[in-house]
Amino acid sequence: MPVRRLVMVGPPGVGKGTQAKLISLRRRLPILATGDMLRSAVADKSDLGSKAADYMSRGELVPDDVIIEVVAERLKSTELSSGFLLDGFPRTVPQAQALDKKLSEAGLALDAVLALAAAPSVVIERIAGRLICPNCKSVYHESANPPREAGLCDVCSTPLIVREDDQPEAVRKRLEVYEESTAPLLEYYRSRGIVMEIDATGDVETVYARIEEALGK
Ligand code: AP5
Repeated sequence: MPVRRLVMVGPPGVGKGTQAKLISLRRRLPILATGDMLRSAVADKSDLGSKAADYMSRGELVPDDVIIEVVAERLKSTELSSGFLLDGFPRTVPQAQALDKKLSEAGLALDAVLALAAAPSVVIERIAGRLICPNCKSVYHESANPPREAGLCDVCSTPLIVREDDQPEAVRKRLEVYEESTAPLLEYYRSRGIVMEIDATGDVETVYARIEEALGK
């Protein structure tokens, strides 16, 4: 059976979003990336954005009840049954339990959790060089994946920006929050035997090849 219901977990900046886009494209799986979704909501000044903005800029998690409700609304029954890739959700044990409940109500279960790992120095270097497109959400890195024209998105020519939560103080907080709230989630999933540990060091295609090998055909 092909692996169709996937979750990506890993520290800030490890490359979850970069790999999620490749997996989605090459395995034809729709992505739900909660960080992108929340950043769009903040930019649109929607209700969700106003609830999330302060938590995000401080590098803290948005409260579980807020994010669980939004994901439950967006994850449609067709995606539940045909497959999906979640990037950035769940991030706490209560979020994982909510996802399990939704899946089990549909008679389904997660197939795999991709746990991306790299040394703190690697993730800090990746975050420090990150540039994003506020329009189409493309992600670049100043040296590892620079845009063709400095400062402009390759896809839509929008000026690239640095994420507000990529400032050093928010990054420190995000790394702390990951250890406190998200690392225990891996134990929750390890006990179910569905975690695939992925070494996220090396270039993007090297990491992708490890993911493909873990997922199989
Ligand atoms: P979110 O956007 O999910 O942030 P994150 O988990 O901190 O992850 P990042 O987006 O920082 O990193 P990434 O692992 O995706 O790395 P990327 O591929 O960009 O969440 C942001 C905030 O939203 C949270 O702090 C929280 O407030 C809120 N939130 C979101 N979901 C929530 C939830 N479920 N519950 C509560 N709150 C929630 O890569 C990083 C850089 O490295 C890029 O520049 C990239 O080009 C480069 N790069 C990637 N791979 C490689 C490679 N192999 N080699 C060299 N460079 C690479």
